[in-house]
Amino acid sequence: MSTIAIEPPRLVGLAPPPEKPASFLGQFAASKGNVFETLPRSIFETPVVRRGRMLFVHDPEGVRRVLVDNVANYPKEKLSDEFFTAMFGEGLLSAAPAKWKRHRKIMAGAFDPRSVGAYAPVMAAEANAWAQRWAQQPDGAEVDVAEAMKALTLRIICHTMFSDDAEELIGLAGTALGFTNDALDFSLLDILPVIGPMRMEAKKARIKADFSAMDGAIYRMIEARRANLEAAPNDLLTRLLAARDPDDGQGLSAQEIRDEVITIFEAGHETTAVAMTFAFYLLSGHPAQAAKLHAELDAVLGGRAPTAEDLPKLVYTRQVVEEAMRLYPPAPAVTSRVAAGPDEICGQAVKKGDHVFISTWVMHRHRAYWDDPETFDPDRFSAERSEGRPRFAYMPFGGGPRICIGANFAMTEATLILAALAQKVRLRMDRPQDVKLRARITLAPVGGLKMTLEHREAGA
Ligand code: HEM
Repeated sequence: MSTIAIEPPRLVGLAPPPEKPASFLGQFAASKGNVFETLPRSIFETPVVRRGRMLFVHDPEGVRRVLVDNVANYPKEKLSDEFFTAMFGEGLLSAAPAKWKRHRKIMAGAFDPRSVGAYAPVMAAEANAWAQRWAQQPDGAEVDVAEAMKALTLRIICHTMFSDDAEELIGLAGTALGFTNDALDFSLLDILPVIGPMRMEAKKARIKADFSAMDGAIYRMIEARRANLEAAPNDLLTRLLAARDPDDGQGLSAQEIRDEVITIFEAGHETTAVAMTFAFYLLSGHPAQAAKLHAELDAVLGGRAPTAEDLPKLVYTRQVVEEAMRLYPPAPAVTSRVAAGPDEICGQAVKKGDHVFISTWVMHRHRAYWDDPETFDPDRFSAERSEGRPRFAYMPFGGGPRICIGANFAMTEATLILAALAQKVRLRMDRPQDVKLRARITLAPVGGLKMTLEHREAGA
């Protein structure tokens, strides 16, 4: 009797890039979804591509030139700054260069490995509580993993920031940040004269109204902590309040701290949630890799809840997170930069005013740096196989002075979440091919990601 091998359904976003470029109309339509999937294969083979005044840089040395070696020549694109400023004031994502430099210096300590180590027990407690919650769901229950991960990472950022005051902020932040993604939804109308600026003003007014309740709560907490800093909990907010510029001894004002808190909320929860969502999506379609992850969790944890002390041993767990972010980078493109003056990148002349684009999606699937780029293979991040890989071939957190300040925070958090949840449950998806991706500032599955929850015992 002959057996018919049934091919498992392919996950979306794992097809090789198309040979031919999409037509202009095709590309416009795709910009509503995931435009990176329509880019022609040649972009994934070439170091630098010019299209008019746009320069696509996908060579590790070219990226280093833009983000590190000649970074002063490549400030961030203005349009995105205006949006960020309306939402986050002048936090790290949007502050003008002098302010950004001062803030980054003052805030560095609150994100260094020692500080992240102090937040790790909070992360583990929240991740373990979520694992318990899922373990109590009936076998076969449907969960929206994208929504759940957003809720969990919001809880984590609020608890690391505000300790016991977090619960009040969780509700307020969820409401306020809900609109920010819609505000970022550009249309052709946004670039028209008169109508474009009017739309921008309307969005800014809506943002201001949505943020007012959260702002009020944050200012109250800042004031209360300032009144008795000695007795304040040793959390992220206290660290920001206590931080001083090493050069002049000055700290941040209440307004500056408010702007940074909101910036950290926004930059620091959805991105990690996206990484987790795609990790579960990938694991659902790759049983061998899921089995290897479970074997590590069983060997290291043996059924108990993970803690920060387990992190050095959760090697494959971390590699799953890294590989998920390679294939589905939560920030699929680094904010575009505009050349302030002439330069040269990989032999290509750059003129003042050229727009420089670096896409993590493209870098992470570039033919020159990755074997089988569309294959989910967490082992490619083992120490041996990572050796010799150029620094900027993998850059989910960006690079240079504007590198994500929360990179270490995010990796600690993501590894603990994956360990806690994957130990307790398996998430299954019957029609993974039906998922649609949408790339804006972050990459996300359209309409969430509904998966079926199955209980898991150690060793199963
Ligand atoms: C998997 C999770 C995350 C990813 C993939 C990610 C990615 C990035 C990227 C690519 C940038 C640079 C953007 C650019 O140069 O245009 C960035 C900046 C930033 N991220 Fe993250 N991020 C993550 C998590 C976090 C977390 C957890 C926090 C805070 C707790 C955070 C806070 C920030 C801030 C404040 C900036 C601006 C830094 C600056 O300009 O100095 N991020 N992030």
